[in-house]
Amino acid sequence: MQAPTHIPVMADLLADILLETGGTIFLDVTIGNAGYFKKMLNLSQRDFHFYGIDLDEEALKRAKRNLRYSNLSLKCANNLNLSHIAKEWGVEKFDGICGDFGLSWDQLLDSSRGFSYKSTGALDMRFSIEQDTNAADLVNNLPKDELIGIFKDIGQERFSRRIANEIISLRPLETCDQLTDIVRKIYRGKSVEKCLSRIYMSLRVTVNKELEAIDQLLPAALDLLSKGGRFVFLSYNSNEDRRVKNFFQHWSKACRCKPESPVCTCDRTPRLKILTKKAITPSKKEIINNPMSRAAKLRAAQKL
Ligand SMILES: C[S@@+](CC[C@H](N)C(=O)[O-])C[C@H]1O[C@@H](n2cnc3c(N)ncnc32)[C@H](O)[C@@H]1O
Repeated sequence: MQAPTHIPVMADLLADILLETGGTIFLDVTIGNAGYFKKMLNLSQRDFHFYGIDLDEEALKRAKRNLRYSNLSLKCANNLNLSHIAKEWGVEKFDGICGDFGLSWDQLLDSSRGFSYKSTGALDMRFSIEQDTNAADLVNNLPKDELIGIFKDIGQERFSRRIANEIISLRPLETCDQLTDIVRKIYRGKSVEKCLSRIYMSLRVTVNKELEAIDQLLPAALDLLSKGGRFVFLSYNSNEDRRVKNFFQHWSKACRCKPESPVCTCDRTPRLKILTKKAITPSKKEIINNPMSRAAKLRAAQKL
């Protein structure tokens, strides 16, 4: 088996934020190759108990090999079932919970997974092989308007309609290169790569229901965070980042009554303190060393 190639994004910062809690029980809801826990082990001598979730069985194998730490509990599952998973582990509270949404380099580079527009493999894009629907099912069966919606709303692609029309006239599509050729016919020059990234990202997010997972994960994670415990989440597109930002804002506000209301009637106590006023992005140096970090946005918050 090859060594993992994924470089964890903003790992020093994430590890510092979690280590500052002084805690020992940490959960990574998208553990991948366990790059963040590895960084925490490099920076601290504490006796940790690490917990990790990933939908991808292969990622969990890499996490185990990469971390080589005995106090590690892993679960191959969708993180939207977090409450249930924590119950199975018998954990009531975590001192820190992190998540790094999207996919890893190792997944992108594995041509058989169909995540890359450079792949010649099947149009798959499932994080878990247990899942029924893959990307080929979507492009071959969805009505035109739904395909347009995916490319436009998730991918923010301006030629969504043209791309969807072309897909429909040429389907069934089976492989990534067939889809890539369609986009290459529409776009010329440098912008084609950016468009391909948007189209592939939007299909992947839809196949794996990634936005729905974040919506379910965040409230469950808040209930499982100890007082003073911290969240750190990394997003790679505006839909993901908006969800984290809105969630943090929602739970950091005290009174939610209208400004014109004379007395407070909502009786609401804030549950989070935002630690990152604005999302933090990687340095230029990090982006040069690790181009996959380019779009990353990190947000952190602390439970009150
Ligand atoms: C960007 S990678 C994480 C990389 C990790 N930070 C590291 O250092 O190696 C995201 C991981 O999340 C997993 N994933 C995506 N959606 C998931 C979900 N809903 N539940 C569990 N795992 C998920 C993917 O399989 C992938 O391994």
